[in-house]
Amino acid sequence: MKSVKSICKEGIFINIYIREDYEKMSEKAAEIIAKLVKEKPNCVLGLATGSTPIGTYKKLIQMHKDEGLDFSKVKTFNLDEYYGLGLDLDKPYAEDQSYARFMYEELFKGINVKPENTHIPNGRAKDSEAFCREYEAEIKKAGGVDLQVLGLGGDGHFAFNEPGSSLASRTRRIALTEQTLDDNYEAFYKDAGFSREEMPHFAITMGIGTILESKSLLMLVNGKKKAKITAKALEGPITSSVTASSIQLFSGEAYVVLDEEAASKLDRYDFYKHIEKMESKYL
Ligand code: GLP
Repeated sequence: MKSVKSICKEGIFINIYIREDYEKMSEKAAEIIAKLVKEKPNCVLGLATGSTPIGTYKKLIQMHKDEGLDFSKVKTFNLDEYYGLGLDLDKPYAEDQSYARFMYEELFKGINVKPENTHIPNGRAKDSEAFCREYEAEIKKAGGVDLQVLGLGGDGHFAFNEPGSSLASRTRRIALTEQTLDDNYEAFYKDAGFSREEMPHFAITMGIGTILESKSLLMLVNGKKKAKITAKALEGPITSSVTASSIQLFSGEAYVVLDEEAASKLDRYDFYKHIEKMESKYL
């Protein structure tokens, strides 16, 4: 008879953890990242921006301070950056909406990662095509990404792979959809006093093909607003219209950590809950 573990591995393609709220979701995600950092101190982490991973990064900073979680040998590669933006430490945080600044403020300055080991697409590269090729080469040189953290865009994107992106796409420049502009304007730009027109309409993003070459994935989603698109990504057809559905093609270990609200429209909600209970009982 097959063990629960092998049923998990063969029967469902991913490990889905459903947690009661954002706090608990962040704890579980930080636990998965910390486990890797302890097992492989020189691991390569793929990192994401957005409001979703902020709680996870806070937990990692706490673990670094309280337990000495060591990032001194860790390398990081971020998924994306707004086209035209880069780190401007001389400006107040609100005025510098680059993802480089986000990473510095929300994670890097609180842990002991070496700045030279962190990589974020350069939104200001003069030759963005050449830059994108170099970024891919850097990832390869580092041995590939061990664990890629991913949020979920409101239009179903991973990184900035907007609907219609090839599921084999590589790092490149991309135009942002109206929905992404609206979402990110509301979440970040508005309070910082920018008009919607002023925000960047393009980005540099790792491709779906690039992301799927990672050794493992950690997808995080929270909130009611994302319930429908979460169900589409995890249980709907694999389609370039919802680029996060590409996770269903992933052949490595994929972890998905959701809060109850984001998980609320999953068809197999009860089954995922059952599997986790069985895992903790029998494995
Ligand atoms: C942006 C980022 C994505 C992120 C998404 C969701 O579009 N490029 O990587 O997953 O926002 O953001 P949030 O977590 O704020 O909902």
